[in-house]
Amino acid sequence: MAGGARTDRPLLLLFWAGPYGIIVVSLENRKGWTLMSDRDDRRRKYITFTFGCQMNEHDSEVLAGILESMGYCQAGNSEDPDIILINTCCVRKTAENKVFSLLGRLRRQKAQNPNLIIGVCGCMPQQEGMAERIKQLFPHVDLIFGTHNVHQLPELIGKVIEGQKQVLEIWPGYGGELREELPVKRKEGVRAWVTIMYGCNNFCTYCIVPYVRGREKSRSPEAVYEEVARLAGEGFKEVILLGQNVNSYGKDLGVKTDFASLLESLENIDGIDRIRYMTSHPRDFSLRLVEAIAASKKVCEHFHLPVQAGSNRILKKMNRGYTREEYVDLIRYIKSLIPHATVTTDIMVGFPGETDEDFNDTLDLVREIRFDSAYTFVYNIRPGTPAAEMPDQVAENVKKERIQALIKLQNKISLERNEEEVGQTQEVLVEGEKDRGSGFIYGRNRGNKTVIFSGDPSLVGKVVPVTVTGARLAHLTGILSYNYHQEGSR
Ligand code: SAH
Ligand code: SF4
Ligand code: F3S
Repeated sequence: MAGGARTDRPLLLLFWAGPYGIIVVSLENRKGWTLMSDRDDRRRKYITFTFGCQMNEHDSEVLAGILESMGYCQAGNSEDPDIILINTCCVRKTAENKVFSLLGRLRRQKAQNPNLIIGVCGCMPQQEGMAERIKQLFPHVDLIFGTHNVHQLPELIGKVIEGQKQVLEIWPGYGGELREELPVKRKEGVRAWVTIMYGCNNFCTYCIVPYVRGREKSRSPEAVYEEVARLAGEGFKEVILLGQNVNSYGKDLGVKTDFASLLESLENIDGIDRIRYMTSHPRDFSLRLVEAIAASKKVCEHFHLPVQAGSNRILKKMNRGYTREEYVDLIRYIKSLIPHATVTTDIMVGFPGETDEDFNDTLDLVREIRFDSAYTFVYNIRPGTPAAEMPDQVAENVKKERIQALIKLQNKISLERNEEEVGQTQEVLVEGEKDRGSGFIYGRNRGNKTVIFSGDPSLVGKVVPVTVTGARLAHLTGILSYNYHQEGSR
């Protein structure tokens, strides 16, 4: 482990690094690292590739933050990088295949530039036997590290520069305190991701995440509050609180707090206009939480509640911990308190043993709830999970037919739900220009739908009223409300 990460004294590590001369890695008061070279004034360049969920996207922001505090800068489009980090996902086979194919393509780049450092991190190497497999299949990979080893990046790069081959560091869990002081290089200017908890304890029988991300570990409410307040000071307008199951927030802390209390505490941070969160598990979504969201001005009325299936038999085999009826009741309660709430979901087809009747239950639930949108997935065997060993795996052609039928139904409903918003005047937080110089800007309404409308880029970062005039499958179109022009011209 990074012994230096626990000291308050500045620590200098010296490495002899061949063509780079002497590399000095300095760890300054646990706040950051710098990487310098006595021969080469050119700033070293990095590229990160990210696969997977927002959690991984945010981890890549931390990786970029660490690299920048070591003196690296992001490589431009035509620039050759000195280091490439690939932050991987293994939730489905397709995500893994993308990583394998990228690693194959990088073989040539490494042959052309032997000093290039290639690192693989994230969820894939946390799977049993995967790191060894990557080492063997891709000898040009210099560095492999796990989801719990991000803070060790400077030390690990140092080892590669020293000449160690295929450096490997993978911990099964966090190994003590969460590291609160890692630097973050955020991509966007309006919305910022903030991790509130790591890991997952749910063990849905199909899912690899609890095995690769470890047990739930919440950040302290104070640490989250401080980060959000800092982001407000930096000009961010929206925060998205991240966790695999945010409703479990605080259960492991041993103090009296929960997700609803965390949301309430963030409400009074000036400068933050909107609070979102993901992902929440239907089982732990308490009525008190719905009430807290209904009472809040800043927490958006968008509920992403992955249902996965509409058949109680399948939900049980998935170990989801709720029935279809309980799920429907929860949505009813949400809509009774917040009639304009949007509800989105994740649905999986082809879970082992899923019959036509089970699948029809899913279609039926989709018709009943009328989700605003849904992420739809074909069940994929993940080695090491209980579902991988279940008999009655569904044939690929059946899975394909089912996903097509599901997508067709959901697309129809999504469009209808969007059409229902035409004529409404909504608050939109402007995120950016549609295409440079196009005269169009875009943002999200509180329900998390993208709205595109004609407007000036100077509105980026502002919440403006927009009247919805058109509906497409994936976005709404609108016009800036007359009232805003009036206000603006005063
Ligand atoms: N923690 C989140 C989801 C994380 S994974 C939650 O519980 O809601 C995102 C989605 O990927 C899941 O909701 C599920 O629909 C899908 N998924 C997970 N494992 C899968 C598998 N083995 N095959 C296909 N889809 C899967
Ligand atoms: Fe996976 Fe279930 Fe945890 Fe979500 S709640 S990450 S689907 S085990
Ligand atoms: Fe993928 Fe890991 Fe997220 S497996 S979905 S990147 S937690």
